[in-house]
Amino acid sequence: MPGTGVVIVGAQWGDEGKGKVVDLLAEGAEAIVRFQGGNNAGHTIVRDGEEFKFHLIPSGILYADKLCMIGNGVVLDPRILLGEIDGLKRRGVDVGNLRISANAHLIMPYHVLLDTAGEIKLGKLSIGTTRRGIGPCYADKALRLGIRVQDLLDEKILRKKIMAALEPKQQALRELSVQRRKLRKEAGEGGREGADQSAAEAPDPRLDLHSITEEFAGYGHRLEPHIADTARLCWEQLDEGRTVLFEGAQATLLDLDHGTYPFVTSSNPIAGAACVGAGIGPTDIGQVWGVTKAYATRVGAGPFPTELDDEAGRHMLERGHEYGTTTGRERRCGWMDLVALRYAVRLNRMTALTVTKLDVLSGLDTLRVAVRYRSREGAIFDTFPYHQSILHSAAPEYEDLPGFDADLTQCRSEDDLPPQARAYLDYIADFAGVPIRLVGVGPGRDQVVWIGGNPGVV
Ligand code: GDP
Ligand code: IMO
Ligand code: MG
Repeated sequence: MPGTGVVIVGAQWGDEGKGKVVDLLAEGAEAIVRFQGGNNAGHTIVRDGEEFKFHLIPSGILYADKLCMIGNGVVLDPRILLGEIDGLKRRGVDVGNLRISANAHLIMPYHVLLDTAGEIKLGKLSIGTTRRGIGPCYADKALRLGIRVQDLLDEKILRKKIMAALEPKQQALRELSVQRRKLRKEAGEGGREGADQSAAEAPDPRLDLHSITEEFAGYGHRLEPHIADTARLCWEQLDEGRTVLFEGAQATLLDLDHGTYPFVTSSNPIAGAACVGAGIGPTDIGQVWGVTKAYATRVGAGPFPTELDDEAGRHMLERGHEYGTTTGRERRCGWMDLVALRYAVRLNRMTALTVTKLDVLSGLDTLRVAVRYRSREGAIFDTFPYHQSILHSAAPEYEDLPGFDADLTQCRSEDDLPPQARAYLDYIADFAGVPIRLVGVGPGRDQVVWIGGNPGVV
């Protein structure tokens, strides 16, 4: 009997609570794989009051007996990964089961510089990236100028590849710095010019072939015991009838192809990408679990039709502690968008839905859910519009459902939930066309309600 691949995917703009869901579902799995993104992700797990934040390491790492893999589709900043490994070791967590794909691409210091330079150049039009070098790293991968994990193991190859990749970056960054100086001069900021110029002329170790090669060869020595052919490890697990979880980062509406382009990330977070990013086939995937908050949030720029700038939005921000795990930025908050959710259900062909943070909504008189959009010209959209200008100006039309006051954080079964909360969940499930299997009522791993019994992946 072949095993099952279970993909966990974000249904909104990220930070839905995927880390917690992976931690819970991992109980019934033997292996956990990250398949895309990099340390732009921030996945939080709270166990016995202790908080863990993962940016690269799969959220299954807290189980010592499960294989945790970073797949080929991930872009990996080795300095961040080693920091995470050291942090876990200090807390007594065994990372002996961590495997890193030899084919994963490395985020290099110049990628981080380019990410920031690109955002500054865009000015008001900036995407609001996490500035972790994600976009430039995926761009180099596509340009076939990327440095891969396996390159760390041979210093000669590493140096050659860095040399080839570095030259165009030095040129691009030099041009950007000249442009910036010119703009400052025009703006009359002459005093800063000298400092900027000398900074531009001083050798920057982040752009120096020798320093980068030495630094990265050192990372190679430390990471070597973890480097593996992770695709083959996945096949072995599946062939032996085991369950493998594929942990998504970011989310559907940040997908490079299907999200709110250009305000997206540079990878494909949707479920289909698990095949490419881990090296498995579509028929290896048996279940797709989407994760949505009971409301909506977004970090960074881009369209967000149900965004709120009122008391209800502040309620979500404060009660939900909506501050980014990676950058600490305040998250934008809004009502549940069912048009977008139905789009995400279809794009991922979800088999189950998890609704997190239902507890945060308690105390709101009315719960609004967007059921369609109206364009500036008055056209009605029942489905997610592909046209950027329509989406940017789309006004949501709401259905109003009754709210609840009760504190949900102690609820552990469906019967504990107030009838208004159950009606809210039923409405979401009906509209989205997918059963809700799990509801979050607090950050702790025990603060969940399994719907319809059968906890875990079955
Ligand atoms: P991820 O990126 O999708 O893994 O999500 P994040 O970890 O960035 O953000 C989710 C935040 O919500 C974390 O701080 C979690 O501890 C917290 N969280 C997860 N589920 C729940 C829930 O059901 N209720 C509450 N109040 N907090 C939750
Ligand atoms: P997790 O896995 C929320 C957003 C950034 C920005 C856009 C592009 O924790 O859900 P990037 O640095 O990827 O080039 O930035 O994507 N973004 C996220 N937002 N959660 C995330 O990850 C995100 N990863 C990237 O804020 O708008
Ligand atoms: Mg997050």
